Formats: sequence, structure tokens, C-alpha cells
Amino acid sequence: MTHGAALRTLRVHLDERSYPIRIGYDTLDAAGPAIAEATQATRAAIVSVAPVAKRYAPTLERSLRKAGLRSTRLLVPDGDRTKNLRQAAKLYDALLEFGADRSTAVVALGGGVVGDLAGYVAATYLRGVPFVQVPTTLLAMTDASVGGKVGVNLKQGKNLVGAFYQPRLVWMDIATLESLPARQRRAGLAEMIKHAAIWEAGLFERFERDAEKVLALEPTLTAELLERSCAIKAEVVSRDEREAGVRTLLNFGHTLAHAIESLGAYRGLLHGEAVAVGMAFAARRSEALGHAATGSAERLAELLRSAGLPVGVPKHPRRAYLDAMRVDKKRTESRIRFVVLREIGRAEAVPLLPSEILPRRFPEPGWAAGETA
Ligand SMILES: NC(=O)c1ccc[n+]([C@@H]2O[C@H](COP(=O)([O-])OP(=O)(O)OC[C@H]3O[C@@H](n4cnc5c(N)ncnc54)[C@H](O)[C@@H]3O)[C@@H](O)[C@H]2O)c1
Ligand SMILES: [Zn+2]
Repeated sequence: MTHGAALRTLRVHLDERSYPIRIGYDTLDAAGPAIAEATQATRAAIVSVAPVAKRYAPTLERSLRKAGLRSTRLLVPDGDRTKNLRQAAKLYDALLEFGADRSTAVVALGGGVVGDLAGYVAATYLRGVPFVQVPTTLLAMTDASVGGKVGVNLKQGKNLVGAFYQPRLVWMDIATLESLPARQRRAGLAEMIKHAAIWEAGLFERFERDAEKVLALEPTLTAELLERSCAIKAEVVSRDEREAGVRTLLNFGHTLAHAIESLGAYRGLLHGEAVAVGMAFAARRSEALGHAATGSAERLAELLRSAGLPVGVPKHPRRAYLDAMRVDKKRTESRIRFVVLREIGRAEAVPLLPSEILPRRFPEPGWAAGETA
């Protein structure tokens, strides 16, 4: 393979804010010129976390320097709790100290946490400076870096403050995933499988054949499936940038996933793992409620299992799940737009009560975590 060559380019079309996603293998050393061209910036502030910066910032910095950009490295603590207003304020201070103006690009180098936080800062500092994403987790590549949602958590809940802010460029180097723990890779794969399940049966079949090769980061194949997965998210988002209609489909598996995450107080399962459990559940419920073609649920569960993802529901009382799923805790009768799987490759949002979503016996026999389904 040609060193440094992008394998795939995907254009995301969002009115006047259209931008490229460049997917390659071992391409970090070529990011600088692309960033310079996409942003017209003269300087760059790289936002990252220590474990990622240690490995990848030097290459990125060298490449920026070669492209004529002066750069600085702004490190934030690792972990989702870092996505808060205090860290954002610290970044504003650091940007001022660096003398950042509108010709300074904010470059997020890291997972979804760094991307969301740096993106929020880029959207708000001086009312917006050029933003570039260099995602280094599979989840950030397939999900967080596509769609333009940026933001931070409040102590009352996740992602409560944010903006829609599109990057000028997303630079994905699959080789950076070599250092990502296998469990994190699988969690990212879960969201790629989600995109296929809701939108494109052909891509789902590819995962049935080749999920192992994606987890092993086989360059050409991973780039191809990543591009197709991002294209689905980009298409859904560009039809519905502000999340009124079709974008809901991206929540497939997430109703239960969010309940699982809040019951586990954000410990235990990784987000992508909770989504795998939630998708397997949503597909089963779709069949049970007569929304889905028979066999889809088992096919999905089988693919998730074979990719090493969990499908068993963590054991908490049904009551606790019902409470966790209620958007408005005071109104027990309020419906949720629950995404059902019609068949592999096609999904639809249906308004349902939490009590309709969860069967009387929940987790269903055979589907509790630890039991073999
Ligand atoms: N904006 C969106 O549309 C969107 C969509 C999905 C998720 N998100 C957000 O993304 C966040 C989750 O993203 P994530 O799963 O990437 O988590 P993360 O950013 O916390 O990264 C996971 C872990 O992997 C480490 N890491 C990152 N890259 C690495 C590499 N190449 N090698 C070794 N270790 C590496 C990180 O340091 C971290 O410890 C959440 O905050 C979520 O809300 C946003
Ligand atoms: Zn998700």
C-alpha cells in the first residue's frame, strides 16, 4: 500500500457546510497539508488526552509544521467526565494564551470525548473557529465525528449542553486503531453494525462475512466498511440535520442502552456494548410486537455474538428499567419513539409506552446477562 495515501474520501453534504472525510491507513503524517487546505489556518491547537497524544501527537505536529502551521498541544484528562464546562473554560484560557484567533484551527485528536469537547470549544470560542476531527477510536470514526453534534455533559446528565457544528475536515487514520484495546474496537463495531441494520442489508451481509477482518483492522476492507458506515450516518444526518425525523433511527438499540447505562451509573458496559444489548433486545421486541419479519432478530443477535459483543440484558428489576426509560418521570403515560427493526436494513420509529416496550417478564427468560440465550 502506498504510504500516506488516503484509501477513501467521503463528502458530507450539509448545505454550504460540506466537508470531506478522508479515510486511510498510516496517513497521520499527511494530515498537516490537508488541515491547512481545509481550514486556511496558520496555527493549530491540538486537543487530546495523554495516552493518545503520547503516541500520535508528534507525527501530527511534524506534519502540521511541514505544512507551515504553528501548533500547540492542549491536554485534557482522559474519560467521559472530562467533557464538562470546567474543561471547556480551561481550553478557552489556553487558546487565549496561545493567541488563538479565527485563523487558528482546533484539532481534536482522540476519541469521542475529545471530539465532543474540542468541537464545543471550537464552536463557541470567538463564536466559532475552524474545527478538524482526527478520531482515534472506531466509535469516534463511525459515529461521534460524523454528524456535527458537539457538546459537554452537565452533572445532571450527559450531552445536555452543545451545538451543531460541522468540522472542515475529518481525517481518519485506521492505523491509529492498532493501539486501541480490542474491547473498544468491538464497541465501535456495534455502532457500525447499527448503521447497516437500520439502513443497508448489503452492508449487514458484509459484516456477517467480514466483521473479524474489521476487528483485525485489515486496511482496505476496514476503510471500505468504515466509509459505507459513515456514509449512512452522513446521509441520515444530512436529510435531517437537526434531528426531527429520520435521524431518530440512529437511536436504534439506544432506548434500552441508555437505561442500562443509567442503571449501571455509567460503569460496567461500554456504550457500544450497551447498544449491542439494546439492539438485540429491540429486534426481539420488534418481532414479538409484530413489527418485524421473523428471523431478523436472531440474525442480528448472531452477528453481534460472533463479533464478541454482549446481547444479554443486565439484571435489574423491570421497575428500575421502566423508571430509567421514562423521559418525563412524572408522566407515566408518555410515549417514547422506539426504533423497531422491520427487517435487516430497514427500521422505523414507533411511539410506544415504556410498559409496552418491556415485556411482562423482563429480562425475558434466556436473555438475562449470564444466561445463555
Ligand atoms: N457527537 C456525537 O454524535 C457522538 C456520537 C456518539 C458518541 N459520542 C460521544 O463520544 C464519547 C465516547 O467516545 P469514545 O468511545 O471514543 O470514548 P473516549 O473518547 O473516552 O475513548 C475511549 C478510550 O480510548 C482511549 N483511546 C482513544 N484513542 C486511542 C487509541 N488510538 N489507542 C489507544 N487508546 C485510545 C481514550 O484515551 C479513552 O480512554 C461519549 O462522550 C459520547 O457521548 C458523541
Ligand atoms: Zn450510540
